[in-house]
Amino acid sequence: MCGIVGYTGPKEAYPIVITGLKRLEYRGYDSTGVALLDNGLKVYKKKGRVSELEQTIFGKDLHSHCGIGHTRWATHGEPSDRNAHPHVSASGKLAMIHNGIIENYAQLKQELTNKGYTFTSETDTEVLLNFIEDIRENNQCDLEEAVRVALKRVTGAYVILLLDTDNPDTIIAARKGSPLVIGVGNGEHFLGSDASPMLEYTKDVVYVNDYELAIVKPDELILKNLGNEKITPFITKLDIELAAIEKGGYDHFMLKEIFEQPSTIHDCLRGRLDADAGTITMSGIQNNIEHFKEANRIIMVACGTSWHAALLAEYIIEELCRIPVEVEYASEFRYRNPVINKGDIIVAISQSGETADTLVAIERAKENGAIIFGIVNVVGSSIARISDGGAYTHAGPEIGVASTKAFTGQLAVLTMMALKIAKEKKTISEERYRKLLLELEAVPEKVDAILKNAGDVKKIAEKYKSAGDALFLGRGYNFPIALEGALKLKEISYIHAEGYPAAEMKHGPIALVDENLPVIFIATQDSYHEKIVSNIQEIKARKGKVIAVITEGDDIIPGMADDVFYVPPADEIIAPMLSTIPLQLLSYYVGIAKGVDVDKPRNLAKSVTVE
Ligand code: F6R
Repeated sequence: MCGIVGYTGPKEAYPIVITGLKRLEYRGYDSTGVALLDNGLKVYKKKGRVSELEQTIFGKDLHSHCGIGHTRWATHGEPSDRNAHPHVSASGKLAMIHNGIIENYAQLKQELTNKGYTFTSETDTEVLLNFIEDIRENNQCDLEEAVRVALKRVTGAYVILLLDTDNPDTIIAARKGSPLVIGVGNGEHFLGSDASPMLEYTKDVVYVNDYELAIVKPDELILKNLGNEKITPFITKLDIELAAIEKGGYDHFMLKEIFEQPSTIHDCLRGRLDADAGTITMSGIQNNIEHFKEANRIIMVACGTSWHAALLAEYIIEELCRIPVEVEYASEFRYRNPVINKGDIIVAISQSGETADTLVAIERAKENGAIIFGIVNVVGSSIARISDGGAYTHAGPEIGVASTKAFTGQLAVLTMMALKIAKEKKTISEERYRKLLLELEAVPEKVDAILKNAGDVKKIAEKYKSAGDALFLGRGYNFPIALEGALKLKEISYIHAEGYPAAEMKHGPIALVDENLPVIFIATQDSYHEKIVSNIQEIKARKGKVIAVITEGDDIIPGMADDVFYVPPADEIIAPMLSTIPLQLLSYYVGIAKGVDVDKPRNLAKSVTVE
């Protein structure tokens, strides 16, 4: 949440910063601002999107070789011009941007107010900035030292970038809990919440760790810990091309990412799954195989869509591996005093690898001696780095705020993981194992076939765009898909939607059913099929509108449902990866029909780096 960008070097800073902000806008879009150093500070900021700021400051003096920029997801203080970052210190010498939350800001603010400071915004950022400035002035120290002293007093999460009129080519940066990547160019440096702002300039990046401070000049990058000891920067080579973060001819990133799934699922399976040889190669699992075989329990920790992937994994792992699985909301798990026993494995699932609740949850579990296995999409992200082992989903950059291709990537990894452990534990027959490998291998082709019928989904979406509420119902392996379908619809179309286990409907939600309520059943051919057909009858008997995701060849449900989406036949463990696709398309097309900015729906941000 909140995107930060910085540049220092021989090029003009503004075009790099503003382009970087557009790429990071998925992290928050309440307000935007830039600060440029050139014979003093030039600060431009505004409520709204990056493009709005760009238009407003067109033609102004933007010349500078050192600048920072911020795109905000509001925490302290409403979205407004005055709460927009960068903030400028009382003396006018320092400008700062911040991603995170300073939890003890009220106390610091009181201390500063007692000394006579006044504030122009309601933000915690302006407090921290003046706290740093106050230390610099009182201790007669340089900015670097003042930042170090200040951060020792701060509780919370932050990435901060600071400009100082006394050092016009230097950016001081520090991180704890929020991401910071520094791109190393030839006589220039780039800073970003992720690597997207620097992709066309350099592939050499340094991922800054918690409690590290960076002094960034055009031709020098000094990393230190808060004890003022130097740390050798570890340079990693990026493996992302610019095209991966562009729309590639699609109207929206969300649509592009939905349509990329045949290839992203293929990329996830490639090099791992060999159905002919009957093997799954996953070094992260292999290196920890004894732990998995002996595990008393697996605890899955995640948020949002990633939590839905975890829930489906619970069904699959318990069925195939006979290991008890618990699925935890990271935000609850971290504040409980969970019982973690020797032999428990924590699996953290996250697209961004930066979700604050998931990150802190696994840090706590790690402190208690748990083994952490990370299933992450963003390479080099914080969760990936603190995990003891793991597997990347290889879905490529996901920019649409609603998670789509990362979800199917997570399902592919989790299914392979379950199959590999089951094979090692001998809890699966050779015949079923081989069949599931073949089924998994066929998923990209089947997803492709579903996407060819996207036009049908679009027509159905038009019919239901005015609904005020919707129910999503599924049983067994399709229950997590019902939850995911409901989440997608509410975030992308602002229609209130609930997911339920289909049989649970009778215990309350059925009271909502009338002739206006669309009820979306995920009812593919599986061992629950007859049961869910009965649930459909129960809805029809109450005049609800039934939309069903069904398997091609189903000749029962089309006679009862108002609308159907077909998916190709698949084993019931694999089918959820298919049935989720029409629901992604449904939410996309309903959102478009309602005029929602589907890539940046209101109030949301990707990469939730605040609690
Ligand atoms: C929903 C969505 C969110 C994320 C959640 C966790 O479409 O994108 O619910 O799934 O914020 O994010 P990650 O997976 O990055 O930890």
